[in-house]
Amino acid sequence: MKVDVLLGLQWGDEGKGKVVDVLTPHYDVIARFQGGPNAGHSLEFNSIKHVLHLIPSGVFHENKLNLIGNGVVLDPIVFQKENAALMALGVDLRKNLVISKKAHLILPTHRFLDAASEAAKGTTKIGSTLRGIGPTYMDKTGRNGLRVGDILLSDFKDRYEFLKRKHLELLRQYSFDFNLEEAEKEWMQSIEKLREFNLVDSEYVINQALQSGKRILAEGAQGTLLDIDFGSYPYVTSSNTICAGACTGLGIAPRTIGEVYGIVKAYCTRVGSGPFPTELNDNTGEWLRNKGAEFGSTTGRPRRCGWLDLVALKYSIMINGVTSIILTKADVLTGLDKIKVCTHYRINGKITDQLPYDLSQPIEPVYEELPGWEQNICAVNDFADLPHNLKKYIQYIEDKTGVTIKIISVGPTREQIVLR
Ligand code: GDP
Ligand code: IMO
Ligand code: MG
Repeated sequence: MKVDVLLGLQWGDEGKGKVVDVLTPHYDVIARFQGGPNAGHSLEFNSIKHVLHLIPSGVFHENKLNLIGNGVVLDPIVFQKENAALMALGVDLRKNLVISKKAHLILPTHRFLDAASEAAKGTTKIGSTLRGIGPTYMDKTGRNGLRVGDILLSDFKDRYEFLKRKHLELLRQYSFDFNLEEAEKEWMQSIEKLREFNLVDSEYVINQALQSGKRILAEGAQGTLLDIDFGSYPYVTSSNTICAGACTGLGIAPRTIGEVYGIVKAYCTRVGSGPFPTELNDNTGEWLRNKGAEFGSTTGRPRRCGWLDLVALKYSIMINGVTSIILTKADVLTGLDKIKVCTHYRINGKITDQLPYDLSQPIEPVYEELPGWEQNICAVNDFADLPHNLKKYIQYIEDKTGVTIKIISVGPTREQIVLR
């Protein structure tokens, strides 16, 4: 058996949560391998929309194991809130979730450092979700971090105090107000509750599952263009969001990777700062934002919108070794007369189809135009019933990328899906 990996090929929010929910019946284990509560994965069924931040998106299906891998950074407060919300819906995470002891803990002071650092950056701020992601991964690579498994050690409080003091020293460099007492109390209570969960050596759990023939889906967070190495640095997140991140974030060998599903929104969005060559600062951009309800699942911020960018997409496919594309939000494009797709960039008068080292320099997208469609596709389940021009759009993307589009999502709910 292999581990299939599902990840975003743009700047996040491609619809990963919804697609994981749709694919979960085909798997036994759903595993998150990186990121943390900066993620917001939405899925919708029975007229209720759920947004998950830390918990894998397979959680609403019975008899599936959900796994939070070592590559994830976990805020116990966010975890408890999600747990309480799921408990109210009858989902018991004590039974269907395991958490890696090697996942790193987000402390309240990590969140303060995130916010203080962003405030100090002024106009050059990353647009972080302020969930403490950057500072937590910094402590991980700096070898200062606290891990989930540490809460089982007798000197956990001392370790916490030591790291907290270090953070308070750092925070003195900023003029930034925070209320540690309150946050710390809630955090400590959440840590106590975390002890009730199944904290494991998840690399053994996943490899044993593989050996016993279980089907595993690794669920990525963020997107390839937010990857710490290959994204639009420094406007990125602090983890490897790419396929390789599934190996390091779960403890699985590269040769165990099977399908790599790349989730692609039919247009592009980005939330937070940083370059976005095909961004539309006009009525069409506004139209896409409203029609696609493009407001952040985690922070509620309006998402920046633009046309599909094939230069960036082909790069993401290359970096991840994508074996098939899942196209989401095709329904949002319904009603447009013409749809533009960026095939090349013009930089300093030169045309290229390669993503440049510096994405922040002036880049003029070169577009091709495709005809739109009027037909409402929200209830279509059969590929044959899709409008001719959407089929042409799909074929066009396949031709340009060399990758097959196997699934098309035509709305936010579980049922709104076209499998080819
Ligand atoms: P994720 O972070 O990749 O899981 O994506 P988000 O959940 O942050 O954002 C995707 C948004 O689009 C959510 O509000 C979903 O409910 C919604 N969505 C997902 N797929 C579709 C689709 O095919 N059509 C429409 N209209 N909405 C979708
Ligand atoms: P999902 O999993 C979209 C963006 C932030 C910011 C940058 C760094 O829902 O697709 P961070 O908090 O990680 O330090 O923020 O990354 N970002 C996301 N954008 N979707 C996400 O997750 C994101 N997670 C982080 O907006 O620009
Ligand atoms: Mg999201």
